[in-house]
Amino acid sequence: MAKVTIDGHMIEVPDGTTILQAARMIGGDVVPPAMCYYSKLKTSGGYCRTCLVKVTKGSEKDPRPMPKPVASCRTPVMDGMEVQNKTAPDLLEARAGVVEFLLINHPLDCPICDQAGECSLQDLAYEHGLSRTRYEFSRRTFQKIDIGEKIKLHMTRCILCYRCVKVAEQITDGRVHGVLNRGDVSEISTYISQAVDNDFSGNMIDVCPVGALTDRTFRFKSRVWNVNPVDAHRDCPTCSGRVMLWMKGAEVFRVTARKDEYAEVLDTPDGKPGWICNTCRFDKKETKDWIVDGPSKIDRHSVISQNHYVLQEPAHKPLLNAVQAVPTSWQLENKK
Ligand code: SF4
Ligand code: FES
Repeated sequence: MAKVTIDGHMIEVPDGTTILQAARMIGGDVVPPAMCYYSKLKTSGGYCRTCLVKVTKGSEKDPRPMPKPVASCRTPVMDGMEVQNKTAPDLLEARAGVVEFLLINHPLDCPICDQAGECSLQDLAYEHGLSRTRYEFSRRTFQKIDIGEKIKLHMTRCILCYRCVKVAEQITDGRVHGVLNRGDVSEISTYISQAVDNDFSGNMIDVCPVGALTDRTFRFKSRVWNVNPVDAHRDCPTCSGRVMLWMKGAEVFRVTARKDEYAEVLDTPDGKPGWICNTCRFDKKETKDWIVDGPSKIDRHSVISQNHYVLQEPAHKPLLNAVQAVPTSWQLENKK
């Protein structure tokens, strides 16, 4: 076990735990943002540098500070380590620089982007970015590509986090896409189109932290804050069947995996990541396909958690009754 202190909060964690994982165990403001790390995907992290922290004391044995900020998702804790995240102004300045680089080629099209409201980059830019760009050159642009019937790739928005590559590698039959080229000409290969036949390829949409991979069955149907997320399940032979239905009245607008406060898929009760199959995601868009568990709990600090759980139209009453009939952990917690 190793004791680590992050922004003044001390915690004891198993050896091998990274600084980011230790920070998530503490929770709250102590947790650095993470755009490429995804706890359910092996070898993720180490690409975006948004999770930089300042190590002011290396360990009890060697108390020297680390000379530069380190990527917390890839740096294991040492016993006695002391770390600063939000309490170091120079670190926050470095992170603002990282955000500025991430935004250099990213279009500022939040008003028309389907990911707006649930975009990790949007949240990151609000919390750590500058209010204006200093970039004076042309941004790189790409044509939008339909990768199969259900997924749209908008490469212009991609921040090359590699999460979709890891999904293809680790939870579909075989990876047939990746990042081509180097530096500012890097791009997700169009061979991604060959990966979408797999039952689990829709999970690429859920892991994409920006609006580069979007659900073609939901695009431009509604802003995400105008639909209500509801936990539901079905007896699915392929996946856990535990999902969030995004509803307006009794109409299911889209189906996604359930997510935690870091926008990662929630584990199922048996401790496995709750990836969902394409049948549940794309083909089950009727309320009769699902057993409703109750309103989803949105932990995430984002506009996505606004305006939910108000079902007012008389036509929606059967669903409202169904939701209210089942006391969920969300309802029980909020009664306390
Ligand atoms: S398409 Fe999305 S998930 Fe894939 S590398 Fe780009 S930003 Fe990451
Ligand atoms: S989250 Fe650590 S480098 Fe991206």
